[in-house]
Amino acid sequence: MPSTPTIGVFDSGFGGLTVLRELLPLIPAAHYIYLGDTARLPYGAKSQATIARYAVESARFLQARGANLLVIACNTATALALDDIREAVSIPVVGVIEPGAHAALKSLTSNLSSRSESTHFTPSNLSSRPERSAVERPASPAPEPEVLVLATAATVQSHAYRNTCARLNIHATEMPCPLLVPLVEEGWTDHPVTREVLRIYLTEALAKCQPQAVLLGCTHYPLIAAPIESTLRELGSQAIVIDSAHATAHATLAAVTATLGPQPTSTTPATFECFATDSIEKFQRLGTLFLRQPIANVQLLDIGG
Ligand code: DGL
Repeated sequence: MPSTPTIGVFDSGFGGLTVLRELLPLIPAAHYIYLGDTARLPYGAKSQATIARYAVESARFLQARGANLLVIACNTATALALDDIREAVSIPVVGVIEPGAHAALKSLTSNLSSRSESTHFTPSNLSSRPERSAVERPASPAPEPEVLVLATAATVQSHAYRNTCARLNIHATEMPCPLLVPLVEEGWTDHPVTREVLRIYLTEALAKCQPQAVLLGCTHYPLIAAPIESTLRELGSQAIVIDSAHATAHATLAAVTATLGPQPTSTTPATFECFATDSIEKFQRLGTLFLRQPIANVQLLDIGG
């Protein structure tokens, strides 16, 4: 493996750009090849066999193009095809679900411990405590951390998040949100229809659980993190909103370092090239918005039907 990483980043559409956005400043010495399989999106409504076939074709393309490490910046492909992808290529592969679940654990742990610290009586506030205060009662057991995972239908059906969270002693309620990816791909990230759809999904989810955190289990959803958070508040939930992009970027750095050694800091920005399997004009227009920097060059790719 050459010492400069070439990192292939793959998603069914624009969502993986939220992961690329985190990777570019974190590993600036790398060159990135992004592939959005926009012609075959959404993956989240398809069967495991189809998702695996599409994801494997994309992974093979990225390796053939020169990638020496692969980031599956798609929860659906990670949940349903990670093993198939790892079998199909001979380079390290990083998925988004493990990092996402660990990010949830980290936020929940710090959130719960700061809440328990804030209810702890100190000598200075003892005088204002009520008679028979909580400090005199036996400590109640710590609540089991509870997370609401919003994801595509296929990711929810796989229970990849529920199982991964269970290993971390987090209880996860999974909610399929099939309309969100098409709305994001339409660029409707701040639109009344998107807010109404969120209100319907979150009302239904909050009737089933009282989460301390909402985990965005689809890489498209960070693009609507703000309306998700404001809808939660409107519905009376104080849950924190977590996405896996930042944690996935750090897992990628760890994988690159394990393979190539410590990465140099770079004074020049990372370089990247983009491929899309459908309209390059749309990819350039919306992708620029989502990556928050110009995408000058998008190449059209035909990897079959
Ligand atoms: N961005 C993908 C994910 O993280 C899903 C989009 C799709 O349904 O194709 O799950």
